Amino acid sequence: MRSSLQSKLVNWHRCTERVELAKKGCKGVGHGATIGLYSMSQPSGFFPEYSLPWEMSVAEQFALIGLLERLRPEVALEIGTHFGGSLQVLAALSGCVHSIDADPAVSARLAPRFPQGRFHTGASREKIPEVLAEIERGSGRLGFVLVDGDHSAAGVAADVAALLRMRPRVPVYVLMHDSFNPDCRAGLRRAAWADCPYVHAVELDFVTGGFHERPQGGAFARSMWGGFALAALRPEPRMTPLVVTAAAEEMHRRIFRHSAHRLWHKVGRRLRRVADSFR
Ligand SMILES: C[S@@+](CC[C@H](N)C(=O)[O-])C[C@H]1O[C@@H](n2cnc3c(N)ncnc32)[C@H](O)[C@@H]1O
Repeated sequence: MRSSLQSKLVNWHRCTERVELAKKGCKGVGHGATIGLYSMSQPSGFFPEYSLPWEMSVAEQFALIGLLERLRPEVALEIGTHFGGSLQVLAALSGCVHSIDADPAVSARLAPRFPQGRFHTGASREKIPEVLAEIERGSGRLGFVLVDGDHSAAGVAADVAALLRMRPRVPVYVLMHDSFNPDCRAGLRRAAWADCPYVHAVELDFVTGGFHERPQGGAFARSMWGGFALAALRPEPRMTPLVVTAAAEEMHRRIFRHSAHRLWHKVGRRLRRVADSFR
């Protein structure tokens, strides 16, 4: 498993590169024109109404737009906003949107553009309970959550654990980005989904992610990123045992064997063993 330091470096590299390119006015940032982690096609050609840099593949963008057009939540929550690519959709298709991001530059950058948005700056594990309590006190009901913040296994598991403490008042769909990344996937698997009686379905490969043979954007060579997991919570308790499904598990397993993550995980295990022997 990749260490949280390594995850931070990857996140930092992904974000810093985009900031630098955005400063240079590079139009391709996040739109897959010439660079970018998800440079699979030209999203702006498909969705010209959403013009902000976006760190998702076209299929993921389409899934997010489609889900929100169908659900039209009264209240939506996003964890991990960065340049506002996904926020612009949440803001357009939800009654009210809350954004949590550890980086104070996010609210400074986006609050003027989304005056109706509520921006919360800080670590998600502290901010999620506060924001859920604020939503609970308000009149609107939470119907949608996008998780795209801390990409370490521990970070993803902590975000999900904090979310599973909610008591849904209407159906709540929780969409989790980068479910194909082995660390995020480990965090999603570690989450205690079955212990929450309001969880009715969890699919790790609602949208399947991809493999980067060569370094691309902030993705290192032979790395796995992208994909959406989706969980459905409902106000009434579940009457049957929960099965967490993963439609692309076999493909994930085969690709993982050829990925750089395998080596990172091996090194991580060795280091933990050495650290344990000194305790
Ligand atoms: C991949 S970017 C989000 C991209 C955005 N959802 C999009 O599709 O355009 C991840 C963001 O999560 C934020 N982040 C990372 N760790 C976090 C944490 N523990 N709590 C809150 N935000 C975090 C980073 O500052 C960064 O802005």
